[in-house]
Amino acid sequence: MTTLQATIRPAWGADQTSLGRIDPQLAQQAYGRKAARLLNQGRAWVADVNGAPVGYALTSQDFFTRPLVEMIFVAERYRRQGLGLALLMRCETAHQDDRMFVTIKVSDAPMQGLLAKAGFQGSGIVYNLSPDDPELVYVKLRAPPLTFVKYQPPA
Ligand SMILES: CC(C)(COP(=O)(O)OP(=O)(O)OC[C@H]1O[C@@H](n2cnc3c(N)ncnc32)[C@H](O)[C@@H]1OP(=O)(O)O)[C@@H](O)C(=O)NCCC(=O)NCCS
Repeated sequence: MTTLQATIRPAWGADQTSLGRIDPQLAQQAYGRKAARLLNQGRAWVADVNGAPVGYALTSQDFFTRPLVEMIFVAERYRRQGLGLALLMRCETAHQDDRMFVTIKVSDAPMQGLLAKAGFQGSGIVYNLSPDDPELVYVKLRAPPLTFVKYQPPA
């Protein structure tokens, strides 16, 4: 068995065209516009294999001003090889808050499995967005960043 070699790097606006080839959702007007905004804000990462994108992650500060994972996507033939988890961990290391949220549909079993593996916990449920497919809210908490460092003048 060969191990998948991938590079996770910051995304930029020009990635949208090549990402559109692996994720048809990017062609939807509203989602495409949001992705374009986040790709240009340094809140997104791309997983490349042999120089070509096979997955991406988008984050924002849009969950009641808290960090939110907007999307983790891995092209179908590259799934179940650890890329989704690697992208999610990249999102986690990039934010400064003491919690990060993700919302997903009840029907999204793969993402629920991924979030459980990454140590996220349930944080609520929102009805009435999609008919018959409520939105689950997940969170991962961590210690707040160190904000005070004692200054000691040189001896
Ligand atoms: C969800 C998604 C990103 C997972 O990507 P992935 O690269 O396959 O995930 P990983 O290989 O890192 O999987 C990590 C763990 O997640 C869980 N998992 C992943 N896919 C799963 C599935 N189909 N069923 C159950 N659990 C799953 C498993 O616990 C897995 O660990 P394991 O392989 O050791 O059992 C991928 O299925 C995807 O792109 N789906 C479409 C986009 C989407 O719906 N994104 C969620 C909205 S934010």
